[in-house]
Amino acid sequence: MSNSCKGCPSSSTSGGCSSGHDPNSCGEKPANNPDDEKIAKTLGRIKHKIVVLSGKGGVGKSTVAANIAMALAMAGKQVGLLDVDIHGPSIPRLLSLSDSKPHIEADHMEPVPYSSNLWVMSLGFLIPDKETAVIWRGPMKLGLIKQFVRDVSWGDLDYLVTDCPPGTGDEPLAALQTLGPTAQAVIVTTPQGVAVDDVRRSVTFCRQLGNPILGLVENMSGFVCPNCKTTHDIFNSGGGEALAAEMGVRFLGRIPMDPEVVRSGDEGYPFMKVQADTPTGKALQKIVEPILALG
Ligand SMILES: Nc1ncnc2c1ncn2[C@@H]1O[C@H](COP(=O)(O)OP(=O)(O)OP(=O)(O)O)[C@@H](O)[C@H]1O
Ligand SMILES: [Mg+2]
Ligand SMILES: [Zn+2]
Repeated sequence: MSNSCKGCPSSSTSGGCSSGHDPNSCGEKPANNPDDEKIAKTLGRIKHKIVVLSGKGGVGKSTVAANIAMALAMAGKQVGLLDVDIHGPSIPRLLSLSDSKPHIEADHMEPVPYSSNLWVMSLGFLIPDKETAVIWRGPMKLGLIKQFVRDVSWGDLDYLVTDCPPGTGDEPLAALQTLGPTAQAVIVTTPQGVAVDDVRRSVTFCRQLGNPILGLVENMSGFVCPNCKTTHDIFNSGGGEALAAEMGVRFLGRIPMDPEVVRSGDEGYPFMKVQADTPTGKALQKIVEPILALG
């Protein structure tokens, strides 16, 4: 039955042939899954995929992801910002887009525009309210995250920045698997008793999946004093840099703890948009430089 699977009317979408032909014995490679082809087509139009993750919660992943995306957009790049935090999506709030809804067509969805070159997608746009508990298990999360790539018309992007929930669970796994081996990780940590194990777990996770690590960011490193406007080293800063060196990961830089970052997050405007000239803004810009240098 040499070529019988090719064009066989019962050839299934998931490869092989539902009529019971053994794809191995019939000599045909299983047909590619059209969903995967659609994902590949979308990804082919995205130059750089950046995934922001951390073993720990509350270290500033969403803040860093939103501000990296904002800074790239301010540099004139076409940018997508994808929030794969399914249980606690925070990107819509950080950008004052909580009341926005993506435009939905039969076969695709338009991401929500923040500006003419920054586009956002988050489950937060699709669930009716913040209180809706989203009880989803692993395979459903993978399905949703695939949809966020496959069915969202991202168009031609220079960068797609993805914000993950903490840890090395279903969402970051699905994000890296969907975005593929060229997706580069940005790992965020804090200097407080530098979470060696957390960072190591994140690094190992990326390496096991075969994804390159763009670098490590030490957030909340030192404190920008609202009185004298200088940075006080109230916690031990610098641990992240030593840790990055120890693990053979590039150190992207440190961002001080700055009450203005909290305020901008609470008020829903990206820090980089209005405070780029402050020490914290400059620290963020320094972290964005090597990302911009990717071209
Ligand atoms: N450099 C900073 N200075 C001061 N506050 C900061 C800084 N970075 C983040 N924060 C604040 O810390 C809190 C947690 O930040 P954020 O939500 O970005 O963390 P996260 O790692 O995404 O959290 P989660 O693990 O829940 O997703 C927010 O209130 C945010 O405003
Ligand atoms: Mg977050
Ligand atoms: Zn001071």
